[in-house]
Amino acid sequence: MHVQVGIVGAGPAGLVLSQLLHRAGIESVIVESRSRAYCEGRIRAGVLEHGSVNLLNAAGLGERMMREGLVHRGIYLRFGGRSHHVDFTELTGKSIMVYGQHEVVKDAIAARLAAGGTILFEASDVSIERFDTAQPSIRFRDAGGNAQRLACDFIAGCDGFHGVCRPSVPAGVLTFYDRVYPFAWLGILADVPPVCEELIYSNSERGFALFSQRSPTVQRYYLQCTPDEDLGEWPDERIWHELQARLAGEDAPHLIEGVITQKGVTAMRSFVTEPMQFGRLFLAGDAAHIVPPTGAKGMNLALADVVALAHGLERYYRDHSMATLDVYSASVLGRVWKAERFSWWMTSMLHKFDDQNPFDRKLQLAELDYITSSHAGAQSLAENYVGFAMT
Ligand code: FAD
Ligand code: PHB
Repeated sequence: MHVQVGIVGAGPAGLVLSQLLHRAGIESVIVESRSRAYCEGRIRAGVLEHGSVNLLNAAGLGERMMREGLVHRGIYLRFGGRSHHVDFTELTGKSIMVYGQHEVVKDAIAARLAAGGTILFEASDVSIERFDTAQPSIRFRDAGGNAQRLACDFIAGCDGFHGVCRPSVPAGVLTFYDRVYPFAWLGILADVPPVCEELIYSNSERGFALFSQRSPTVQRYYLQCTPDEDLGEWPDERIWHELQARLAGEDAPHLIEGVITQKGVTAMRSFVTEPMQFGRLFLAGDAAHIVPPTGAKGMNLALADVVALAHGLERYYRDHSMATLDVYSASVLGRVWKAERFSWWMTSMLHKFDDQNPFDRKLQLAELDYITSSHAGAQSLAENYVGFAMT
């Protein structure tokens, strides 16, 4: 088997890259270790930046999103028992879209398959080789257990943080920067109406809570917890009690309780790989960098990476020039580090830290007060949250 671009991973990065390449007349094959149903059911991100919405529309993937997605003009920051609105539309002229990552994945899989694209689900023993030459390849066992080799001109490593591509680069070539946070998020999906028309990020004395949405009838809520939290100790009543307590205060909105259909714990980490390329292997999305979810940046960064990578590959096949591919890493890392800074800052401002002394706590509250009372402060948050233009 030979294809122009071999893509490892059918998450948002791999699928949208495949779609962008297809529209530019470049063939790709995606090798994915999980089943289609697993990829389509994996509940993760929920917020699309302004530029991501435009990208999905331009790529022909936006039809259902525009029908079912929820357009939000801002968020609420809650502290000291009160909610404070940050109005992105007033501050930046832009809005965000709440639309689950698994819906983006479903839409992209459907579009690729409808156009005759190849996604090889349930591949095992995936490995990449010879990517320091002009003839790289991906080896794997297909869903039937048969050994396969996919020869390609380039490999896109879109296989997430735990994938095989990044660890395949020889030791000493890449530099890693990371920070692990001393807490995690317990996330739930519940069949209830929304507590508020927009997302609420709550800094409470009991720890952080986030009230997000998926649809008018399904909500996504999160509680700060310990990284080794045992879900067995979180019966539904305890979760609702804690969500209520972290929302309490003077103007607390009415949180309706109901059936919880999913629970999970997500670790919090910041991580960047530099450079995001070695030979003919290009890393994109979580394979190259991750952020704590507080800034809602992970999926958006993955999409911005593949826009740049698709441009580089288009230039290569059009002009036989590596010029744009050679600067891929440098061209996306500026945006990556801005998102790393923003996600770290939101995380630091909103969570409870065990080693926080009363002085640190006062500083945290002063920062929230500044952001919600100063036009410049609010505008800085808004500009980062709605996202910077994609190149
Ligand atoms: P992934 O989605 O991880 O996709 C990688 C794919 O590669 C997967 O399908 C995986 O099965 C496959 N794979 C792995 N190993 C192999 C292998 N060896 N061979 C073949 N295939 C392999 N981001 C936002 O932008 N906004 C948010 O609101 C937000 N909230 C989040 C909330 C939570 C709870 C979590 C966990 C994450 C959140 N994120 C958010 C982050 C976002 O989900 C990720 O950044 C995003 O999934 C990255 O996409 P990706 O395609 O790079 O990687
Ligand atoms: C989500 O809806 O899953 C979500 C929203 C905002 C975040 C993180 C996650 O910052």
